Amino acid sequence: TKRMTVTTLRRMKEQKEPIAMVTAYDAPSAVFAEAGGADVLLVGDSVGMVVLGYDSTVPVTIDEMLHHTKAVTRKSRRALVVTDLPFLTAHLQKEEVLKAAGRLLQEGGAQAVKVEGGHAVIPGIEACVAAGIPVMGHIGLTPQSVNQLGGYRIQGKNIKEARRLLEEAQALEAAGVFALVLECVPEELAIRISRELTIPTIGIGAGRGCDGQVLVYHDLLGYGDGRVPSFVKQYASIGEAARTGIGSYVKDVKAGHFPTEKHTFRMDAAVAEGLYG
Ligand code: KIV
Ligand code: NA
Repeated sequence: TKRMTVTTLRRMKEQKEPIAMVTAYDAPSAVFAEAGGADVLLVGDSVGMVVLGYDSTVPVTIDEMLHHTKAVTRKSRRALVVTDLPFLTAHLQKEEVLKAAGRLLQEGGAQAVKVEGGHAVIPGIEACVAAGIPVMGHIGLTPQSVNQLGGYRIQGKNIKEARRLLEEAQALEAAGVFALVLECVPEELAIRISRELTIPTIGIGAGRGCDGQVLVYHDLLGYGDGRVPSFVKQYASIGEAARTGIGSYVKDVKAGHFPTEKHTFRMDAAVAEGLYG
């Protein structure tokens, strides 16, 4: 099976075939996401919150992103693998941006990087694109700016903000991004941006008008330990299955019901004889 490319995604938009993207952070999530048919795997810096226990994505480092990217790409075969550039990275000097993004492709095995933000990150994006590193953009609610935004809330509700986001989307397309994530924006704005751009838009909390959708693995599978935003649809209850499964195991161990004969290795009777004397 041939791997998805940035060109495939562009063609999917042209042919109005919705793009399904999901986050993945390790080998099993990559395997399950591809088995489910996901077109794009995002090694999101949401790994910091859903896997590493941080309370925002701000503390996530390039080494952590690399560690998780390697686990995903060891098992991924078909999907396009995109990894987030962590907090601040895209704002650094061009050489530093290239070094970080380059490591995610060269050492990590990703096919592309994702960068949060608008005009401020365009020089960094242009440097990557010029160097042959495909970049996915991300505007609207940009969780790395949570301290600036004052919380995780919908963006682009008034005309001034909506116009600014539309203008940023166009500037990012002109800078060469191959796709654009729209997070937590009104559906009307997402539709307007999706119509305006040639590149695919990927929505999360952005309604029905985008060229694709993305959800966080742990959110869509009910694998988290916290509350989930209202735009998430939960398709499974992995956390509940884990809790009851482990509860049963602990009960069995305490009651002496595990292990049983069939979980047990034996030696030849003669050898056992020698062992016990
Ligand atoms: O880190 C992440 O999971 C993301 C998606 C929600 C777009 O950036
Ligand atoms: Na992210």
